[in-house]
Amino acid sequence: MPSLQYDLANAFQDVFSDFQEVKPRTLVLVGGPVLLVLITVYRYFAAWYRLRHVPGPFVQSWTSLVQVKKMWEGHAHLYYNGLAEKYGEPTKYVCLFTDAAMPTMMSIMVIPGLYKWFQRWPLSTLMPSSKDKSGFGCMIGFAEKFVDERLRPDAKPQRDIIQSFIKHGLDRDQLVQEILIQILAGSDTTATAIRMTLLFLITSPPALRALLREIDDGVESGRVSSPVTNAEAFAMPYLQAVIHEGLRLYSPGVGPLYKQVPKGGDTIHGYFLPEGTQVGQNMWGIQRRKDVFGEDADVFRPERWLEAEEGRLKAMKETVDLVFGYGKYQCLGKQMAYMEINKLLVELLRRYDFSLVDPVNPMHLRSATLWMTKNFWLKITRRE
Ligand code: HEM
Repeated sequence: MPSLQYDLANAFQDVFSDFQEVKPRTLVLVGGPVLLVLITVYRYFAAWYRLRHVPGPFVQSWTSLVQVKKMWEGHAHLYYNGLAEKYGEPTKYVCLFTDAAMPTMMSIMVIPGLYKWFQRWPLSTLMPSSKDKSGFGCMIGFAEKFVDERLRPDAKPQRDIIQSFIKHGLDRDQLVQEILIQILAGSDTTATAIRMTLLFLITSPPALRALLREIDDGVESGRVSSPVTNAEAFAMPYLQAVIHEGLRLYSPGVGPLYKQVPKGGDTIHGYFLPEGTQVGQNMWGIQRRKDVFGEDADVFRPERWLEAEEGRLKAMKETVDLVFGYGKYQCLGKQMAYMEINKLLVELLRRYDFSLVDPVNPMHLRSATLWMTKNFWLKITRRE
């Protein structure tokens, strides 16, 4: 009877001789995906292992599919907040949702070298083009046309931000990029702030009355010009309180706006986080902290900004400021955003009355990194 060792040796020999017959093409076709799976499993395991001491949902230490689902459902803010409430701070989860939302952009961000491949045929056909009739490509077309007109030798210099960029030596490509980033970063964010603040005002008659009184008194006494200046608006305490409440309750950026832990790692809330860890923030939770804003933190109540004593007011201001990010990452358009919100609210409210067309469903609102709003229908009448 043959021994077990003998059998095994024969079996290995058989497999090896079969293996020698495998064509290199088959080897690549089968071996490539297997290697990719092994690398992926290893990377996931390593990611889980280095953060195994941080609490978080087990399944979501391995996959970001739950997050992707929540984003598609439009509940990203509630999802992040739920995790923080259940697991505390910080909470661990794998985050690849942005890959799902913006595959091309995220792939290039992760592997910048891919950029040049996306510029070449056939991948270039997948990219937006300035010749597109709609979408991002159309916006690139608009930016290029706008810059070309401003760079014409006979173009009249204007008093605006583009002229300042030209004066400081930005070339054509840089100017186009600046326009695109400002449209992307500055449109839906500011629009959300204005839209949500307006909704809160329409549905909070005492707050609306107090703001209208401040505007009307300002107009009557000459403290509010037409149109109101930014400085005049900043000097209106109730208006500023209203703006802070609007920004706080529906921060235009939902998060998580990841930042990477630097070399050597860092300790956050008593948890050591190794270098390279991506740390995101739960903006909804931060802006509704009861220890900072009081027990009624979920309520739109501008008066809290007028009543707070110095120490609390400072903490509230610093917290609400986080909707614009922090430090070197802070929003570059913050002052412009305040100017737009300041002027728009005063100019709209001094002229018009607003009421909801459908008070039961005032708007359709979904969150996924930013807020996506549809069907905010208002009836607008001129104020008496
Ligand atoms: C209420 C309105 C706005 C909010 C809440 C907001 C918020 C933010 C946030 C959270 C960031 C990212 C910070 C980070 O990475 O951590 C950001 C970045 C940025 N924002 Fe805004 N933003 C607003 C309006 C604007 C406007 C009006 C502009 C320009 C016209 C603008 C231009 C930018 C730019 C250029 C960046 C990128 C900064 C960088 O390169 O790091 N934003 N903003």
